[in-house]
Amino acid sequence: MGPTWVLLLLAVLGWTSASSLHYSDGRSSRLSLEKTFGRSLKDSQCQHMLKHLHNGARITVQMPPSVEGHWVSTSCEVRPGPEFLTRSYSFYPNNTFQAHQFYYEDNHCNKPTYTLLVRGRLRLRQASWIIRGGTEAEYHLHRVQMVCHTATVAKELSQRLNQSCRGAVRGPWEPGKIYELWSEEGGYDCSRELNFAMHELQLLRVEKQYLHHNLDHLVEELFLGDIHTEPSQRLYYKPSSYQMALQNAKVGL
Ligand SMILES: *[C@@H]1O[C@H](CO)[C@@H](O)[C@H](O)[C@H]1NC(C)=O
Ligand SMILES: *[C@@H]1O[C@H](CO)[C@@H](O)[C@H](O)[C@H]1NC(C)=O
Repeated sequence: MGPTWVLLLLAVLGWTSASSLHYSDGRSSRLSLEKTFGRSLKDSQCQHMLKHLHNGARITVQMPPSVEGHWVSTSCEVRPGPEFLTRSYSFYPNNTFQAHQFYYEDNHCNKPTYTLLVRGRLRLRQASWIIRGGTEAEYHLHRVQMVCHTATVAKELSQRLNQSCRGAVRGPWEPGKIYELWSEEGGYDCSRELNFAMHELQLLRVEKQYLHHNLDHLVEELFLGDIHTEPSQRLYYKPSSYQMALQNAKVGL
């Protein structure tokens, strides 16, 4: 089946589920997206689609993005530091999210060191003026917890946090136990010592991709904002590009 046929079929599918479609990637399309987003993101039934070709695959950018569901890393990710991690993020219909970041000591993500459990709330704002297909969002954290997976890591981290964030460390940490790094009720903030922020949630993009022009083979990807290369800048950095995409796991919801 040819690309034109796929485009037409997508258009028909899109038309039945949405009241408006935009084919143009140009400025006027962005302006109208901005208007629609400005009106009311949540109430808008319009699914605006930006389409383009990428390596011969048909990619559709969903705007506004529907992030509801469970999204996971497809490989071991590297962040400056270096840090090696995999991510597993769930976004719920009530606009809350639960994010798991699994950290490892090796670049194959075989040896787990610690896991961060992050809960919070996400609110989509408007289409990004700077990054095409991107949507800006605001997040609010409810709590950040940590589990260490080895005795060595538990000892190292509790010693490190004991200096900057005494509230969290009441005695030496044990592996496998959940410790609070930050919570809405708590009076301390240990995430600062780890340069922890979830600013990646300030920029989102959801892509639907039909692999090999096969309409049965749909892959959904969630791109989140990039992380500053300098760890100490992460708390202040506003994303201007994307990290490696997470893939929809189609389970859990
Ligand atoms: C939102 O939904 C999730 C998943 O169903 C649930 O665990 C959580 O408690 C809910 N939060 C609020 C504030 O309603
Ligand atoms: C935290 O620091 C205090 C004071 O320096 C020390 O007495 C305590 O043993 C430390 N606790 C841990 C878990 O490192």
